Amino acid sequence: MSTSNPWPYPTHIAHRGGGRLAPENTLAAMRVGADHGYRMVEFDVKLSRDDIAFLLHDDTLDRTTNGHGPAGALPYGELALLDAGSWHSPAYAGEPVASFQAVARYAIANGIACNVEIKPSTGREAETGTAVARAARAYWQGAAVAPLLSSFSEVALAAAQAAAPELPRALLVEQVPVDWRERLAKYACVALNINQRDATPALIADVRAAGYRIAAWTVNDPLRAQLLLSWGLDALFTDELAAILPSA
Ligand code: G3P
Ligand code: MG
Repeated sequence: MSTSNPWPYPTHIAHRGGGRLAPENTLAAMRVGADHGYRMVEFDVKLSRDDIAFLLHDDTLDRTTNGHGPAGALPYGELALLDAGSWHSPAYAGEPVASFQAVARYAIANGIACNVEIKPSTGREAETGTAVARAARAYWQGAAVAPLLSSFSEVALAAAQAAAPELPRALLVEQVPVDWRERLAKYACVALNINQRDATPALIADVRAAGYRIAAWTVNDPLRAQLLLSWGLDALFTDELAAILPSA
């Protein structure tokens, strides 16, 4: 069987919005990605204490905002007042924590495809999968290209599948499990998202022959990017938006 799942996505995906060039997971990052010609962005979504979906990679606020402690412990009204840009550079001082809704609006208005990585705060896997999938369904209703939902958390992915089965899903893995076929089938995924170090011509061929797409994170070396695409990789996530040209 050849690759059979619908895949309306480009080959190059701006990791965390704007890679290294802008504060990750902010609207400013999305604009930088688009300015570099990227037509797809990846970002990380979790829930505030009052169940509003917002963008942040870590469990805690400390690395990428001027807040402290567990991100999921604050209501969205408090998260929205934080500075999520100063840690990166003065040019982005005052950049707010982005809500999932604001990023969805930006992406849809500008024809940017999205990989929504469901990144639950520890212990909130199922409710985050459910809430993010429901929000994605509402935000992208009637949009030309649906967002690709992914997660390292199979609990979150299963919850997203139950909440919005029609949205495409990718299983995101730290290491490729031997039973990847069974897991992709279990969550009715369209793709397997792997660590780029695990990419081989054989794995790419096997995944595609099984009817799935395969994407790799995080590819920051232009030559490696070229090589992986020559092996038939469907998409790569990169932080190096200036060095890795999306049209290449
Ligand atoms: O979704 C691909 C990639 O973002 C996964 O790793 O830690 O950067 O979210 P991480
Ligand atoms: Mg991510």
